[in-house]
Amino acid sequence: IFREHQLTQRQLVDFTNNFGVAVEHVRKQPPRDVHEIFIISNVKQDGVEIGALGNAELTFHSDLSYMPKPGTLSMLYALELPSSGGATTWCDCRAAYDALSDEHKASLVGLRAVHRHYVEAQNQPELVDHPVVITHPDSGRKSLYVGPHLTKHIVGIDAAESDRILSRLYEHLDEPRFHYTHNWHLGDLIVWDNRPTMHKREPFPESERRLMWRTQIYNDGHQFPKMAIGPCKRLSFSSRAQVHCDRIKNPAYLTLAFDTLKPILLLGPTAIHGYALASRHPCLVQAIHSTNERDAGRLGWPYIELEDDT
Ligand code: SIN
Repeated sequence: IFREHQLTQRQLVDFTNNFGVAVEHVRKQPPRDVHEIFIISNVKQDGVEIGALGNAELTFHSDLSYMPKPGTLSMLYALELPSSGGATTWCDCRAAYDALSDEHKASLVGLRAVHRHYVEAQNQPELVDHPVVITHPDSGRKSLYVGPHLTKHIVGIDAAESDRILSRLYEHLDEPRFHYTHNWHLGDLIVWDNRPTMHKREPFPESERRLMWRTQIYNDGHQFPKMAIGPCKRLSFSSRAQVHCDRIKNPAYLTLAFDTLKPILLLGPTAIHGYALASRHPCLVQAIHSTNERDAGRLGWPYIELEDDT
C-alpha cells in the first residue's frame, strides 16, 4: 500500500512496468492516451459509463483468471471515492489453503476449474481452466485458485458435485481470518499479486462517484519471462523461427522465456545464435505482437527479433 500519491496515467504505467509489462485490459474501453490504464468507475459522461464495474458488489475473484495466462500483478489507484462503501477486501488464499484439513487438501488434488467472464465478448473462444490449487512459481507455496465471481465449474464431474465442492471452498475463503479490508483514501495505490490472492469489493451508493485507475499484467503466464520478443510474421507449432540475439548477455533470461515458448533447441552458454523455437499457444503470438524494441529498451530488457526462416 502506497499512500498520498498524485500520479498521472503515464506514471502509473511506468511504475507498473518495473514489475513486468503493463498490458491493455482485454475489455475494450473508450479511446484514451494511455491504453494500459483500465478505468474502474461508475461515473457517466453524457449518459455513457467512462469505465467498468459500476457500483455493485463484486465477489471474490483473481483478475483475468478467465485468460489462459491470467493476471499476475495488478495495481489500483484511487482518484475519487464515495462517502461510504466501496472498500476492497483481499483474501490470502495461501493461508486459506494451509488451513484446510489434510483430507480436504487431498480431495482437491488434480481438480481443475473453468473460469469465464460474464461479459461473453471478453472470453477466449475455448474454455479456459486452471488447477483448483496452484503453486506460486517464486515462493513454491500452494493456494486456492477459485472464486465465485469468475469460476464456473469443476472440469469432468457433474454439476451438483462441482457446486458442492466450490460452495464449500467459497465458504472457507469467506472466513475473515484470511482477509485484509482496505478503506480507501484519495491517492492510495495498492499493488497485489493475483496468484495467491482473491479480492472482492463492497457496493457503494449509485448516486456517488468512484474513480479508480488500474493497471494489470497478464498473458505472461505463471512463469514470467523477463525478455522481449519482436514481431514474427508466422509463428505456429510447425513454423521455425531464427533468433538473432547477439546482444543477449544473460542466457538465464532466455531459458525462462524459451521454457514458456516450448523450445525445440537448446541454448548456448554465453552468446546465442540462430536457435529455432516454436509455439502452439495462440496467446503467445498476442504477447509477442504486443512487445516492441522501444518498450524493451525502456525496461532494460534484452530484445530479440524473430524471423521466419521458411
Ligand atoms: C477489481 O475487482 O479489480 C476492482 C476492485 C475495486 O473496485 O475496488
